[in-house]
Amino acid sequence: MNEMPNFEQAKTMTESKISANKVQVYYGDTHAIKDVDIEIQPRSVTAFIGPSGCGKSTFLRTLNRMNDTIDICRVEGSIKIDGENIYDPKVDPVQLRAKVGMVFQKPNPFPKSIYDNIAYGPRIHGLSRSKAELDEIVASSLQKAGLWEEVKNRLDEPGTGMSGGQQQRLCIARAIAVSPEVILMDEPCSALDPIATAKVEELIDELRENFTIVIVTHSMQQAARVSQRTAFFHLGVLVEEGLTEDIFTNPKDKRTQDYITGRFG
Ligand SMILES: Nc1ncnc2c1ncn2[C@@H]1O[C@H](COP(=O)(O)OP(=O)(O)OP(=O)(O)O)[C@@H](O)[C@H]1O
Ligand SMILES: [Mg+2]
Repeated sequence: MNEMPNFEQAKTMTESKISANKVQVYYGDTHAIKDVDIEIQPRSVTAFIGPSGCGKSTFLRTLNRMNDTIDICRVEGSIKIDGENIYDPKVDPVQLRAKVGMVFQKPNPFPKSIYDNIAYGPRIHGLSRSKAELDEIVASSLQKAGLWEEVKNRLDEPGTGMSGGQQQRLCIARAIAVSPEVILMDEPCSALDPIATAKVEELIDELRENFTIVIVTHSMQQAARVSQRTAFFHLGVLVEEGLTEDIFTNPKDKRTQDYITGRFG
């Protein structure tokens, strides 16, 4: 028997990208997220699953302080990214949201050209010193999002004139353009047909080489296809989290088992 510890593995298991501790979220008097602890691994895909209303989107939004934009919403507990508390008053939410990008359910390109959709973030964050550098960011973001070949000859056309699947990949390219470290996706394929969905899933699989991805999905097949780890939420509680394979084949909690076998949800 080999007694040597596997340091590489130990390292990847202990250095979480995101550490959430005793997180509570309230909307007025409604306690929507209860005591959630989770460690999210870097450069991998974590899926959040669970029945409608269980708090998946609410918890996802705590990870880049999107809940700050909802008046009645209050977040307690601690969320650290690379060891830094993102709720610290020193943290600028605008900078945070560049580091922790977000892609929504419905593709929401700006009513601007394809080029300007991508260039928008780098411009406001001052990421390029010249037109040539900005062109380079636009091209490489579209390449990383697997969209370059489809749009390279129509960068001046409006982003809203693309197909739904292309628009969603444009939104992913737009998130990538500001060099985020984490990308949050809230049901990014729910408005897409199966072919566009497959493309976005392929893209997510490629992106995990360089980004930490958290995806909310209603599709257990999708969670199984794209994620390495899965977290199951129920009534605001994180019931269990683990390797996706284990969650789907050998869940520990009866509630998880009932959900994945379709007994509720
Ligand atoms: N802006 C809001 N104001 C008040 N209550 C809210 C708000 N957003 C969510 N809630 C409540 O918080 C709870 C969790 O909602 P959330 O949207 O996070 O669930 P979800 O798991 O994402 O559901 P779905 O799968 O339907 O998207 C629900 O009871 C919901 O009604
Ligand atoms: Mg939701």
